[in-house]
Amino acid sequence: MRRKIVVGNWKMNNTVAESETLAQDVLAALGEGFSGCEVGIAPTYLALEATERIIEGSEVQLVAQNCHYENDGAYTGEVSARMINAVGCSYVIIGHSERRQYFGETNATVNLRVKKALTEGLKVILCVGETLEERETGVTESVVTSQVTEGLAGILDIGAIVIAYEPVWAIGTGKTASSAQAEEVHLLIRTTITELYGEPAASQLRIQYGGSVKPSNAVELFAMPNIDGGLIGGASLNAADFAAIVKAAS
Ligand code: 13P
Repeated sequence: MRRKIVVGNWKMNNTVAESETLAQDVLAALGEGFSGCEVGIAPTYLALEATERIIEGSEVQLVAQNCHYENDGAYTGEVSARMINAVGCSYVIIGHSERRQYFGETNATVNLRVKKALTEGLKVILCVGETLEERETGVTESVVTSQVTEGLAGILDIGAIVIAYEPVWAIGTGKTASSAQAEEVHLLIRTTITELYGEPAASQLRIQYGGSVKPSNAVELFAMPNIDGGLIGGASLNAADFAAIVKAAS
């Protein structure tokens, strides 16, 4: 039985003080009701340390939204996996479609980041997903398979990996993939992982769905056999909604 995992990706929202308030609100809203589920929140880099002080000692884990693939050096504006680890993060999100779309991330740079994060002892949420144009031209399967295969190239052990399937057309648009549409791609991902790493590893891998998850659709999505939780954007900025989504997974 795979333990579901729900992570709030706060993206570029909230000052440090606002992040502290939201983290407190999330803890209060969650109460004791999420023992069946792993939970994380991903504030901006700037707010990681302050947020960690709020959630320390709780079961909510600190997650970073990205990391660089070098330890240090002349990479203005970047933050390394080593730094993220030192501030208390358990997980790092890598390859989010917004990174791919706006900041030039490719499967090759995603792969470098994944490798470095694992080397630094972080767990990784590797994001994959097709654009609307790719879905409409019928290349979803090949796009997602390449993202998985190339993102994981050279990685022998996927025990510390979670994959997040986030169809780009469903992110922030209010258009959720139907549970059947999502399940189809989740199954494709698990089949790809079975081919690459064998059945035992594939059956343990958690695959999150992301893209306009809300309290109203979470139960149905999380009921699908290959959907093991969610990566939540907009709804994670509201503590009550986020807690309701966590409860749907618990
Ligand atoms: P929304 O939930 O706002 O659609 O965002 C999903 C996402 O990109 C999470 O990483």
